[in-house]
Amino acid sequence: MNNRFTQRGEASRQEHHIVRIWCSGNIGGFQPLVAGSTPAIRTSYHVHSERMPEPNPHDTASFGKVVWTEEHRDWENADFTSLKDGTAFPKEFMWGVATASHQIEGGNTNNWSAFEPRSKSQQLSGEACDHWNRRTQDVGLIKDLGVSHYRFSIEWSRVEPQQGEWNQDALQWYSDLVDDLLARGIQPMATLHHFTQPLWWDEMGGFEREENITHWVQFSIKMFELLSDRVEWWCTINEPAVYASMGYVLGEFPPGVRSFKKTRLVSMNLMRAHARCYRTLKAMENGNRCQIGLVKNINLFDPYRRWNPLHWMQTKLLDGMFNRCWLKGLATGRFKPPSGLFSKRIDGLKGSSDFIGVNYYTHLLTTPFMPTKVEIDPLIRPWEQRTDFRYPMYAVGLRRAFDMVRNLNLPIIVTENGVADDDDDMRPEHIRRHLQITAEAIADGLDVRGFYHWSLMDNFEWAEGYDQRFGLYHVDFTTKERTLKDSGKEYAAIVKAHSMPQLVVMAGGLGTRLGSITEKHPKSLIEVNGNPILRHILDWARSQGCMHALVLTGHHGEQFEGMTHPGMCLTFHREDEPLGTGGALWNARELLEERFILVWGDDLHPIDFQPLVMQHISENAPLTMTVTESHSSSNLEHDGNVLLAYDKRTKDTSKLNGYEAGTSVIEKSTLLKHGKDGKWSWEETAYPALAGQAAVHIDNTKFWDMGTPEGLASLEEFLNETTL
Ligand code: BGC
Repeated sequence: MNNRFTQRGEASRQEHHIVRIWCSGNIGGFQPLVAGSTPAIRTSYHVHSERMPEPNPHDTASFGKVVWTEEHRDWENADFTSLKDGTAFPKEFMWGVATASHQIEGGNTNNWSAFEPRSKSQQLSGEACDHWNRRTQDVGLIKDLGVSHYRFSIEWSRVEPQQGEWNQDALQWYSDLVDDLLARGIQPMATLHHFTQPLWWDEMGGFEREENITHWVQFSIKMFELLSDRVEWWCTINEPAVYASMGYVLGEFPPGVRSFKKTRLVSMNLMRAHARCYRTLKAMENGNRCQIGLVKNINLFDPYRRWNPLHWMQTKLLDGMFNRCWLKGLATGRFKPPSGLFSKRIDGLKGSSDFIGVNYYTHLLTTPFMPTKVEIDPLIRPWEQRTDFRYPMYAVGLRRAFDMVRNLNLPIIVTENGVADDDDDMRPEHIRRHLQITAEAIADGLDVRGFYHWSLMDNFEWAEGYDQRFGLYHVDFTTKERTLKDSGKEYAAIVKAHSMPQLVVMAGGLGTRLGSITEKHPKSLIEVNGNPILRHILDWARSQGCMHALVLTGHHGEQFEGMTHPGMCLTFHREDEPLGTGGALWNARELLEERFILVWGDDLHPIDFQPLVMQHISENAPLTMTVTESHSSSNLEHDGNVLLAYDKRTKDTSKLNGYEAGTSVIEKSTLLKHGKDGKWSWEETAYPALAGQAAVHIDNTKFWDMGTPEGLASLEEFLNETTL
């Protein structure tokens, strides 16, 4: 973190207003109400440059005091190279986009649709993006971005339109959505409450009554029963603090009330509901293998004048009510709701999250005046840029948000981050900055697992209606046409740079040395330690970040029918006659991506793919093969970096100094150059032809060849003893 700068007296350049807090607009994008103005006061403002101190893991009460430092960075000279060359994030990073049901589906009847005529914009959600009728197309849009994860919410009012009546079509629709996603190698993350609820439940008092919680938990159970065999990631409640403050303090969300008493009640019940939901789902079948968490919007508050104790007091107050009391509740199990004087114990709340979802948008500069009806722009620092929502883009705040939640000791997932930006001139930079901050946090040892951009496409932005556009895809709300924006291309390019190439498995080979077992069965289907070896290979590739695999099944392809693999999108290609490794690849060339990782279906080769791929890219090689120098025999000669000769049949092995260990990265153009019709061997044709050009990646990890009975036995033993 070098690029910080020190700034004194900058704030005085701005015209000064007295900020009247609370806020207006979605607190997801928190927008202060401002009234009146005072003459400019000169302020002394210091931007710190020291490294943040290590947090104390036992300090659950304070939640990272370090976040009080308002840091800024001079982004002018920022270096984003690592985002582009694929070195900024680990290979297992969850790359996602997020949406919420009411904002995109269209045709919903719920507490929001009832409230819309009274909302600030008075715009109706109506058909929204018509996602309900365009699901397949939209899943295609997600796939085109190349992301591995998608966060959506389930519309309770569709699934249970009347109390106890389950709508089978709606249930089927969500089930199909999940299948569509998985079929494209995209992992679903489902949110069970994202601001909306059915009218029948709303009329019973919604979260104002503790006894109503059970209905929402019943709905959650229903969804978990239906989807938890396929959906691993679950969010219970989206942004309880936003729901409570926008609905019950500012009155900008339904039910449009202004009552601190009700805010306390509803906040308490939201936390109770979260805890009950978490405990109930965890106890169900699949509960243990699913990750269930709360999504918390972290809105940072900073004193407008850092020398002014009143501004500090207001900051502490708002931060306490909006952020810390909720996090403290999760950590300790005792919750003091916003504006409450006492904390209460909530059964099952302590530790009720497998991860913490962080939604981050901005920081707010606070002064101690309470709201009036007049709304003008929130205060910002002079060097900050306003988003369309009028609050500033402040990427360093994402790091402060991480530091605020880190004492929960939970994996952190950015479940939302994005910007309202109609003409898309700010969003590409917004994406780069926030990803840069995330990458640095990971490098500093924070356990940030994923990033979901808000949002996949422009949508219904609650009280703001259709006026605020957050999408990576532009939506024409008349024709419903979706168009990828430049920011979408930027995000996709960063994701692509960090994604593993397609995996291609040569899985059709029959075993000549294994006797009758594989006369008619491809070796890749022989069970080792309870599973076909192909599964072990796919498991390994998945753990290395591969999401797409093309399995070349040879001429016994029917034996692979119906096979799926968790977290991966599988494509199969079969031949009518044996074609050898080269012929099989050549025949499937239409299905190959521009660059692919080739592995053998009868070898388990548990190497780290990332350095191999990085080397391949940096050397711009036509093909990079993994070579081991620890094998009992040799079949090639290399000079450390380049293949000099390949000959697997020669008797004169005196010059040979390595063995081709299995995993290679290949440019499709290389196959097109060396390929031909008919039956031929890839390695015996392409490798000798690539002598002097193919790159060599040395990795002495043992590979497990199960082509002989002894090989099979030792692989079995290895898998028995090792968890890959
Ligand atoms: C909410 C989204 C909203 C976004 C942008 C978040 O707080 O979860 O539904 O669209 O903020 O304001």
